[in-house]
Amino acid sequence: MAYREIYDGWKADPEGFWLAAARGIDWIQAPTRALNPDQAPLYEWFTDAQVNTCWNAVDRHVEAGRGGQLAIIHDSPITHSTKGITYAELQQRVALLAGALRAKGIQKGDRVIIYMPMIPQALEAMLACARLGAIHSVVFGGFAAQELAVRIDDCTPKAIIAASCGLEPGRVVHYKPLLDKAIELADHKPDFCVIFQREEEVAKLIEGRDVAWHTFQYGVEPAECVPVSGDHPAYILYTSGTTGQPKGVVRATAGHLVALNWTMKAIYNIDAGDVFWAASDVGWVVGHSYICYGPLIAGATTIVFEGKPVGTPDAGTFWRVIQNHKVKSFFTAPTALRAIKREDPEGALIDDYNLRSLQALYLAGERADPDTIRWAQRNLRVPVIDHWWQTETGWAIAANPLGIEELPVKIGSPSVAMPGYDVQVLDEGGHPVPAGTLGAIAVKLPLPPGTLPTLWNAEDRFRKAYLTQFPGYYETGDAGYVDEDGYLYIMARTDDVINVAGHRLSTGAMEEVLSNHPDVAECAVIGVADELKGQVPLGFLCLNKGSNRPHDVVIRECVNLIRDQIGPVAAFKLACVVDRLPKTRSGKILRATMGKIADGLDYKMPATIDDPAILGEIADSLRAIGYPLQKSA
Ligand code: COA
Ligand code: AMP
Repeated sequence: MAYREIYDGWKADPEGFWLAAARGIDWIQAPTRALNPDQAPLYEWFTDAQVNTCWNAVDRHVEAGRGGQLAIIHDSPITHSTKGITYAELQQRVALLAGALRAKGIQKGDRVIIYMPMIPQALEAMLACARLGAIHSVVFGGFAAQELAVRIDDCTPKAIIAASCGLEPGRVVHYKPLLDKAIELADHKPDFCVIFQREEEVAKLIEGRDVAWHTFQYGVEPAECVPVSGDHPAYILYTSGTTGQPKGVVRATAGHLVALNWTMKAIYNIDAGDVFWAASDVGWVVGHSYICYGPLIAGATTIVFEGKPVGTPDAGTFWRVIQNHKVKSFFTAPTALRAIKREDPEGALIDDYNLRSLQALYLAGERADPDTIRWAQRNLRVPVIDHWWQTETGWAIAANPLGIEELPVKIGSPSVAMPGYDVQVLDEGGHPVPAGTLGAIAVKLPLPPGTLPTLWNAEDRFRKAYLTQFPGYYETGDAGYVDEDGYLYIMARTDDVINVAGHRLSTGAMEEVLSNHPDVAECAVIGVADELKGQVPLGFLCLNKGSNRPHDVVIRECVNLIRDQIGPVAAFKLACVVDRLPKTRSGKILRATMGKIADGLDYKMPATIDDPAILGEIADSLRAIGYPLQKSA
């Protein structure tokens, strides 16, 4: 069947569509119905089913005779090592770790934070939680202790599983001191921490609280898979919202299994035994869906890559991995390709490798710019598929579903809505706009299986942030348009979220940190265009009247403050001191207008501006730090 038929088939009978997709999953008790609308506009899926995620991602493949196949390949150019783990080995390792967690009291529904770099043990920890029905929350390694502390207090984990260190090019990231500091800062204290000691750094354990990964598992009974109900939370993943308090996106178990399994074939054209690689990090949603769960549920081989697109050791690393492990479908962020393109503009390094296994390249996480897509098309000679989704949805809202049908690629568009998503572009009043007209992108409720049913501990916030502006719809926070052929174009965020190197960051959170600096009276952070990272944050600081400290010193302190409190991943390096901020008469800071000035774009003088002269001052301050950038040819 072709895409259109499948999409229309879903629309005509969503219940039938998802129950058919559910047949790809092993159930302890199969669902008798798909959607549960009892709490509408909050929806659940497959609530009457009993299932276990780890069984579907690991054990069932061993039972089916795939035990000898590689489940995970760890490829680490940073440590110069490659290691494979078969499904049978993975089953043993996960069952043992789960047994150890159970022996220390971890049960269904308990939360476990995982704070680990790109090593197979991170996936094993996720799967061990899934085996017990414990709810994991993975925290990205590039966040500072304070961010980890916020997550500890929000999801109140009984245990934390961490590694002694992460490895960035030329720098060891000392995870353990960050973890200790986070626990000290948090009000909630975990019962115990399990520390995986890496060869590169052995961390000091705190007696009575910390236990080493291997010691922890010594002599324990392996655990079997614990059945959970379909709506049981599989995990919580925190993502940036408009404030400093991150949103805990909840993922329900059964929908997650059904949807990811469906996408592996329909979107990524992956069957059991194929090799799939998503070059992201387990700390992000791409890592959850497509490094860990999706490929394993499908019985494919997944690659855990500990390296960077460039510098580990060169811009040919990605191609080496694809060649050596015979990757069939490859998923990365446009920023990674821009980094490679910058070092190897002609794609000369690509010719050093045999990429015959590669059938398609998938891009997501940020807008894919036409130059980068064309570069990849020219040099890789495979379909380059942009697809659009979010932490909240867990899988693609719009894509070109190669496993169903290769639709014509329109550069600049992540193609068309996937079954499950009735995507509409709305005006401010919530009315659908004609094709070609810009508006807020919303999805008609209910969202499909695998998407968030709510936010952890914050149902009101869930309703306010996503369901209130356009009743009957989920508000994506993205703006764009649909063309006559139903292709979507994602143009910008409608909130204060920016996208830095494919990482989603909140400018509001940065402003909260900056306003704690003793010299800062008021501030604003915006995203400005960056050739490599897509966007980078830029801060405007208004200093207290009495402050007479040199501006460069205050700026340096502010840069350090964000690094200390949010983390290096915020990439906050640019700021300027201004006398005042442009505001509307009601006091709202005109961030979007400042962003346009910084990017050298045309802007309309906002009708409600309090004092238009301030925009001139802002432009002067920006010029002093080199903005707008001179565009390279
Ligand atoms: N643990 C600790 N620190 C981390 C980290 C991690 N897991 N990941 C990144 N950082 C740090 C980096 O070391 C860097 O610190 P620095 O300021 O001391 O140099 C900072 O966070 C910013 O990192 P990054 O965004 O990776 O920028 P970069 O300049 O080091 O590299 C790219 C640029 C384009 C190569 C890199 O951003 C990249 O590979 N992007 C792909 C992004 C991606 O896959 N996103 C997934 C979303 S789908
Ligand atoms: P995250 O939750 O970190 O995955 O970030 C989701 C946001 O990234 C989306 O809401 C978009 O703003 C942006 N995004 C993701 N994929 C794309 C894409 N293919 N094109 C444009 N923007 C994207």
